Amino acid sequence: MENINASRIEVCDTNCLKQADTDNFLSLPLYSPLPQQVAVVPDGTTSIEAARAVTARNEGKGDWDETFMIGDLGMVFKLYKRWNRELPRVELFYALKANGLRPVVNTMAALGCGFDCASKNEMALVLGCGVKPEKIIYAHTCKMMSHLTYARDHDVELMTFDNEEELLKVKKIYPTARLVLRLKADDSKARMTFGDKFGAPFDYCKYLIKKAKDLDLDLIGISFHVGTGCPGLEAIATAIEESRMLFEFARDVGFAFTLLDIGGGFPGTEEADTVLPFETVGFTTAMAAIIRGELDKHFPEECGVRIIAEPGRYVPGRAFGLVTNISAKKVIKDRMIYHVSDCIFHSFFLCNLESVKLRPVPLKPGKEKLHPTTVYGVSMSGVDVIEKDTLMEEAYVGDWLYWKDEGGYSALIRYGFNGFTMYKACYFISESDWKELQSASLYPKLLPDTRDFI
Ligand SMILES: Cc1ncc(COP(=O)(O)O)c(C=O)c1O
Repeated sequence: MENINASRIEVCDTNCLKQADTDNFLSLPLYSPLPQQVAVVPDGTTSIEAARAVTARNEGKGDWDETFMIGDLGMVFKLYKRWNRELPRVELFYALKANGLRPVVNTMAALGCGFDCASKNEMALVLGCGVKPEKIIYAHTCKMMSHLTYARDHDVELMTFDNEEELLKVKKIYPTARLVLRLKADDSKARMTFGDKFGAPFDYCKYLIKKAKDLDLDLIGISFHVGTGCPGLEAIATAIEESRMLFEFARDVGFAFTLLDIGGGFPGTEEADTVLPFETVGFTTAMAAIIRGELDKHFPEECGVRIIAEPGRYVPGRAFGLVTNISAKKVIKDRMIYHVSDCIFHSFFLCNLESVKLRPVPLKPGKEKLHPTTVYGVSMSGVDVIEKDTLMEEAYVGDWLYWKDEGGYSALIRYGFNGFTMYKACYFISESDWKELQSASLYPKLLPDTRDFI
């Protein structure tokens, strides 16, 4: 610990947009350009040690009681290398919806990875990092028209679709796009399913392939996503096999498919990665073994098909810890209750939605006795319960709680999931209501300005 130069550790601060920035959100990079330097620390430094160094350096500073993330880019790099070892035929297109913090995106960009973008803002972020448009797949099957136009204007050609209307939209706005048809995979056993919302059923895929031919569109392959936290691996095997069948069908229709996109769904926590459901071999390793086998069977190397995947949480999940500050504490018999600086509407949004069991630990090593503990979020909402009935050492007001493996889908909820943040607001009031409001106002000068059109 003493060896870590705390002053060299920078927090990846996600919470520093100025009001003017948010007003001009559309023209700005998605994430704050504030401290993005990466501290180079002694080998073997763990995330929790780094977090301790950051809190020690900032102790006593007035504004230092807000949540922060601590990210080990070495872990991101290790997972990238592991990917290449386990799936050497599969190009990694990082789904930055999982974590679009600049240092993560910069690291993946520097390694030459591709990116799965879901929105205009995500494309802007990646392009802004110097990534070439051909390294991007716009993997949203139901695109907003302005975002599709953005893709066209920035030469992001590769994109997914799963319905006829989308084909017509692409034909109108971006007829030279290179299309990838998303097949509905069986994700019924997954923790987070996509199949009801995205992906075309197998038979409808055939219809869409013919439709794309009729419209003279450039359809180049198939994609799927087996959902997040998918316990059985048969779904991947089936999806790869069905993809091959669609490749054959497309050939008969007159297409020469060249791309298979096997989606995401790789675990992003140490526990899921190493324990479940394979006792001895990591889940990702087991998943990779199945994928390798199925690809060799249905898409052998000599067939020349380019294979890509869109892992999201796999890349940053284990690399980041979330550090929350305890703002209040209540003790009821042996039960400890804490209120912390974050909530289920911010960093813990997806954990809450997916009912993930969390195990916070106090940053300061405490007394060894474990107490039944409930952690409430900072908001005033009664449903804002981050973790109930967990066991934890006692901690105190002002202490920090460390939540491991929080790199996937927690940092960016604050700025809008998948880069979809913006809404505009238009206001109106009837003439008579306005008159009445003016006369009822004690301070009419404080009323908002008016204009005479909507
Ligand atoms: C199209 C697409 N690709 C990839 C991902 C990443 O999934 P995961 O984080 O489970 O790997 C998602 C997640 O929403 C997705 O919708």
